Formats: sequence, structure tokens, C-alpha cells
Amino acid sequence: MHSEPYLLDPSADGVHVLWHTGAPASGAVLLGNRRVEATSSALVALHDEDGVRATVYRHWADVRGLGAGRTPYRVVTVLSDGAVDESDTYTLAPAVPGGHPVRLLLTSDHQLWRMTPANLAKVAETVGVELDGVLFAGDMVGVPARAGDWFDHPNGRGFFAALTGRADTVIAGRHYRGAPLLQHAPLFPAIGNHEVMGRRHHTLQERFDDPAPGDWDTAAYEELFPVPRGPAGPRWWSRTIGDVFVVSLFVTRAWRDPVATYLEPGQFLFERVDAGSPQHTWLTAELGSAAARAARFRVVVFHHASHGLGAHVVPAYTDPVEAGGRYAYPVENDVVLRDLAPLLGAAGVDLVLNGHNHLWNRFRDAAGVNWLESSNVGNSYGAFPERGDPGGLAPVLPTVAPLTDPAGTPLPYVADDDVTVFSVLDSAAGAVHSYRFDTRDPDGPVVLFDELPLD
Ligand SMILES: [Fe+2]
Repeated sequence: MHSEPYLLDPSADGVHVLWHTGAPASGAVLLGNRRVEATSSALVALHDEDGVRATVYRHWADVRGLGAGRTPYRVVTVLSDGAVDESDTYTLAPAVPGGHPVRLLLTSDHQLWRMTPANLAKVAETVGVELDGVLFAGDMVGVPARAGDWFDHPNGRGFFAALTGRADTVIAGRHYRGAPLLQHAPLFPAIGNHEVMGRRHHTLQERFDDPAPGDWDTAAYEELFPVPRGPAGPRWWSRTIGDVFVVSLFVTRAWRDPVATYLEPGQFLFERVDAGSPQHTWLTAELGSAAARAARFRVVVFHHASHGLGAHVVPAYTDPVEAGGRYAYPVENDVVLRDLAPLLGAAGVDLVLNGHNHLWNRFRDAAGVNWLESSNVGNSYGAFPERGDPGGLAPVLPTVAPLTDPAGTPLPYVADDDVTVFSVLDSAAGAVHSYRFDTRDPDGPVVLFDELPLD
């Protein structure tokens, strides 16, 4: 295994470059005549399928002293036997200065699903790979401690493989490789339930399937994405990206079987975000900061969606309440709706990006906050329009080219295992543009189907 480089957390004059090898090695980033040595270390959180620690070395270079704009770079890796490997040439850049417009890919829920490489290939064809960032609302892989899910899964759709153009998957006779996005654009991640491992069991799958309160970790995520960091490390953070202030939160819970959820008390929230919790207190301060107020747009990213037409919006995001041997989740106790939504509205947040349901839908609340899920990337878990949004909002119809039902009625969602969706925040345009591509027709168009105005 030998991964392509990926970028994290640009600063005023630098950016972090990371890559991985399956054997001990040293490495450096080459920028013209300049050479920046990487710090190499063995990761401890990744494992093989049978639970044996995988041999994965991380190479991490903190490149500083960059001028404005893009600089070509390569990474060079020297293995312990002296073999040298040089990457192709890509470009990196320091943080876009405050006030400047940016283009950010909004994505989530890749999880090695069938359509993900096609989706990313169409992103690159439509808006290129030299974006200012990739905002990822959680659920990157299936089992986060499984090394193959990140790098070289047998299905050819590992997380980094797809996001660096090294995937290999075929739909309708067309080979899709993903796209070299992360070599050029920094990843700004958030934690989904698929970034959390339980610790009680032996096999990786059992550990993932059965976390317990106080007995879980995000160690793999934190080794792969050590920056950006906030006061609690990489689990939540804020950054200014050009004219957009971005906050990433850790808002997700243990996934449980929908029937067992009501029969057992196993459902629980991971990091708390209730009013008074450290994360909520920090968020309140961040949204009131000079950086947040000065930005043209404020965007908050977290995995769990409490507004939506998808399957995983229910039950409400709260602790179970026992009644007569069953467990209820009162919607009035939904932590996102009760404790986050009013704060986001009062702070003038323009956009919340969620994931988890694997569909596209969006809402606008009375305070003017837009709630978008654009997670019909690799597959879908369906839409339930007859149930509606448990949070009480009406879905917004796509403004340009909605899909329609068989009677020709426009649909306020995309929930489809053949049609893949991506969204791009274009702050110069003051809008999020959402696109769809029907993988059954490999020569068909990428269709702009929704324009979400942020002003
Ligand atoms: Fe999820």
C-alpha cells in the first residue's frame, strides 16, 4: 500500500501534506528546489480484517513559507530498502485570505458505495480539482479501524482511493477512478457514526456494531485527520476559508437496528452537544467571534440530520426514555432542534450541512438557516415524503431541474441508487449549486438541478 498525498488545514502561509505507506519509509515534499521533510510514524489504530494491527506509516509534512496562489509539489518516499517513489505533480496553496471568494465541495457518506468514484469523477469534470476545500459531513468508510476501508479495499473504492483518483469500479460499462481532489484541495472533515469504533468486542465488525457509552473512540479518524484541531483536538474545530466561516461539530450517535432502537436502551449519543456541554459552550463562543461575524457566510457541518425526509432522521436525536418496557425518543427533546437550531439562527448561520441519510434534500427554517443534506453520493437509503420532516419544515423543491415522479410531479429530494448527487458552495455566486448524474447513462450530462441562494 502506498497512498497519494492529501492536504489538510491550510494556514496563512502553509498547508499540511500527508500520505501513507504499508512499510517503514521516510518522505519529503518537493516544491521546486525546496524540500520539506515529513515526520514519519507508525499508526496504531488501523487493523487488518482479522483484528491484527495493520502496518501503516503516516508521513506528515507541515509546509510553511508559501506565497499566495498555487505552488506545484510532489512527494518523494524512500523505503527502508532504498527504493524511491515520487508522486505525480499536484498543486497546493495556503489558506484563501479572509474575504476572498471560495469554491467548496460539499459531500459525505462515501462509505465505499458503488457510485462514489463516478460521483467524484463528475465533480472533477464539472468544477475541476483545484477547489478551496472539501467539506465532508461524516461517514467516510464502513469500519474506521479497518485499514482497507481507507486505502486498498478489495472493491476498489477505499476512501482515499476514490478521493485521489485511484479507485477502480465499473458502472454501465464505464470505468470510474474517482478524481485527484485531495492532492489539490484540503479536506475539512466531520465525524460520522462510521468514524467511531466500539471497544468491547474482538472482531472489527463487532466492535463497530456495538459501541457502548464511555467505551468507544475516534482513534483512527484522529490519526488520519490530526488537523484541523479545536480545543478537544480534531473532533470539532472552526476555520475561516476565504469569505466563509466554517464550524465542524461532532454530532452523531450509535446506529442501532430500527426495531431494536425501541426495544432496548442501546441507542445513545456520542459527544454531547446539549446546551451547557463543552461542545455547545465552545460553539456559542465561536459563532459570536469576530471571525464568524466578519465572514460573508457562516457554515456549520455535522453528521446527524434532524431535519430531513431520510430514514435516519428518526428517532429524534435524544436519549431514550423508558415507558412500559419500550423506549421512546421525544422529538421535543431533540438536541439539534432544541439546543442547536436556535443558536444557529441567532448567529446568522447561512448553511448547515448534514449527512447520514444518503439522499439530497434541503429545508429553510424561520430564522433563515438552510439545512442541506447532499449525501446521495454512493447510494441511497430512500426518502419518506409521506412521513415528512420530523423537525416540522417543508422541503424546498429544487429550483432548476427537480426529478419527477411517474405522474410528472416534481420531487423535493433525490434518493436514488442510480443517480448520484454533489453540491458546490460557490461563494462568489452566493449560492450552493447541486448537480446530479445518472450512472445508467455514462455519456449523459451532469445536470444542475438546484441553486440554493445563501444571501
Ligand atoms: Fe451515518
